[in-house]
Amino acid sequence: MLVTGGAGFIGSNFVRYALRAHPDWRVTTLDKLTYAGRRENLHDVMDDPRHRFVHGDVADPAVAAPLARNSNIVVHFAAETHVDRSILSAGEFITTDVFGTFVLLEAARESPALRRFVQISTDEVYGSVPEGSSRETDELKPRNPYSASKAGADRLAYSYWATYDVPVIITRASNNYGPYQFPEKVIPLFVTNAIDDIQVPLYGDGLNERDWLHVEDHCRAVDLLIEAADNGEVYNVGGGNHVRNVDLTQRILHLAGKPDSLIRHVADRPGHDRRYSVDTTKLRTLGWAPQMAFDSGLAATVDWYRQNEWWWRPIKDADPAFRAYYDTQYGRTRS
Ligand code: NAD
Ligand code: DAU
Repeated sequence: MLVTGGAGFIGSNFVRYALRAHPDWRVTTLDKLTYAGRRENLHDVMDDPRHRFVHGDVADPAVAAPLARNSNIVVHFAAETHVDRSILSAGEFITTDVFGTFVLLEAARESPALRRFVQISTDEVYGSVPEGSSRETDELKPRNPYSASKAGADRLAYSYWATYDVPVIITRASNNYGPYQFPEKVIPLFVTNAIDDIQVPLYGDGLNERDWLHVEDHCRAVDLLIEAADNGEVYNVGGGNHVRNVDLTQRILHLAGKPDSLIRHVADRPGHDRRYSVDTTKLRTLGWAPQMAFDSGLAATVDWYRQNEWWWRPIKDADPAFRAYYDTQYGRTRS
């Protein structure tokens, strides 16, 4: 199995999950090690003889194509993933998320051994959902450069099934949380800020709503779909935990033992999608249901960041690139 983006948040959790669940599988991680990709995320499987790490770019056919051609399964996580960064500068999102997917799909066309190509898309492709839940057949209305590039890749992958019979399936998951998430995303950012008594920057009125999915539940869904899905089909994956940002923030502060006065209301994200929600009936019909309750999942996650400062302090305290991003995004005040 080839896992692209396996040194990122979900990818590294998935590599670990797959090696645990399938003792007879061999897994190759292909990762460019962007700011979000870290060898440390795979520290416990780097020496596993069933795992191989390749440092390279999915958009480089010389590296990516032979790996994809020699795989039975491709799970394509690699992407630029942060909405705020896509608003600051969208170029890399097009190069990696769209063109990188094209490079892999072209290689997949020439791979007789390939039995599954999993395109990891996102619930953001549906756009903002004021009420109800998106079904897989709903119209795509992405509203920021990240989600638009993901929608492009999502439909490109579909087209390679419809046109060339590449065994593509597409997943659209909701907001993931758990260990090894880069501390630019709201949960790890707010938890680590809270630990350090730094204010947490809540966008707009804080009433935007996300559906939180524990990363382990996402991994189980992808693993199931590799075996049980129908080619050419799309599957939503959602945790069923709809929480407004302000409530999420208060829960994080409470778990961290910090006061609500750490909340700093800041200017809203441009084009900020108000709400996401996916209907997961199709996936549940295959026997999947989320196992992690949000209360215990969030508590365990806060605890993980407390126990693993070795992992995030080098990013937040010592990486000038992270500091530069933080200052650009939030202004120079860190308290
Ligand atoms: P992440 O930013 O933590 O990790 C992305 C990984 O991709 C990093 O390891 C990075 O180095 C690698 N990468 C980036 N560009 C690359 C390139 N050109 N070639 C090779 N590797 C490259 O992201 P994540 O949160 O783990 O998301 C993984 C996937 O899941 C993405 O496709 C994302 O769109 C999708 N997704 C994420 C969520 C979520 O809540 N995090 C929800 C739904 C879908
Ligand atoms: O829905 C799936 C998507 O979830 C994935 O496709 C993306 O890759 C992933 O980054 C995530 O996107 P979001 O934009 O929803 O995640 P983020 O953690 O950036 O923000 C979650 C919510 O918190 C959102 O409403 C914006 C808000 N927020 C975020 C940050 C970083 C704040 O209020 N303040 C912040 O500083």
